[in-house]
Amino acid sequence: MRVVITDTSAHVAQFAAGIIADEIAQRRAEGRAAVLGVATGSSPLGTYAELAALVESGELDTTGVSAFALDEYVGIALDHPESYHTVIDTTVTKPLALDPARVHVPDGLADDLAAACEAYDRAIVDAGGIDLQLLGIGANGHIGFNEPTSSLSSRTRIKTLDPRTREANARFFASADEVPVHCVTQGLGTILDSRRALLVAQGAGKADAVAHMIEGPLAAICPASALQLHRDAIVVLDRAAASKLELADYYEYIEANQPTQAG
Ligand code: GLP
Repeated sequence: MRVVITDTSAHVAQFAAGIIADEIAQRRAEGRAAVLGVATGSSPLGTYAELAALVESGELDTTGVSAFALDEYVGIALDHPESYHTVIDTTVTKPLALDPARVHVPDGLADDLAAACEAYDRAIVDAGGIDLQLLGIGANGHIGFNEPTSSLSSRTRIKTLDPRTREANARFFASADEVPVHCVTQGLGTILDSRRALLVAQGAGKADAVAHMIEGPLAAICPASALQLHRDAIVVLDRAAASKLELADYYEYIEANQPTQAG
């Protein structure tokens, strides 16, 4: 796992946006459009804003780029301001000038949720797989909505939200009771299938989860620790989110001494 420690959350956003812009450009140089995995939550908002600025200035061409969101609440109207359909549309699809027909969000309203989840995983495979999956991390170590004790090889499925997650997300709703109890989320196995994973975390509230994810044992109590199994994971942190890392100096040393050749 590559660990990049930056000074501020603004630097996190700039660094992460640079990686995503490079990914899109590299895939275009290969003659195809990138397939992105996109996340909701406050963590990636700065990254999206940086990417939107690159699109606006003409430095980044997102033509043909497709996106798959990580998760959605169950039973929430698509046009609810806090449905992830709405959130992805306003924070990703429109600012990055993506074609809405190429942006996919799990269906939390399907009559047969299990079948819809299976179809979602198939759609990712049919699109050629996710080139780069952007992630945030919950204070309890979740990624997507894979709450503690999620199976490390899980696929897109229905989950019951941890009460701590509902509490954390209550800030977006009129009252805590309005936060749905269930969700559908890409599984840890689905996320591990992405060719590249990019996790951004800012603030001291994430420091424990970040330390466990990077340095702790691979354990279901911290679902993000599954990224230790990922073939190409990059974690971009501000100093507060990195504050509980035992080997922070080592990660900075590695960044200052990057090999000049791949391998
Ligand atoms: C949310 C999302 C996750 C997100 C996490 C952290 O509920 N389902 O994708 O990474 O919780 O949220 P935030 O970035 O707002 O701290």
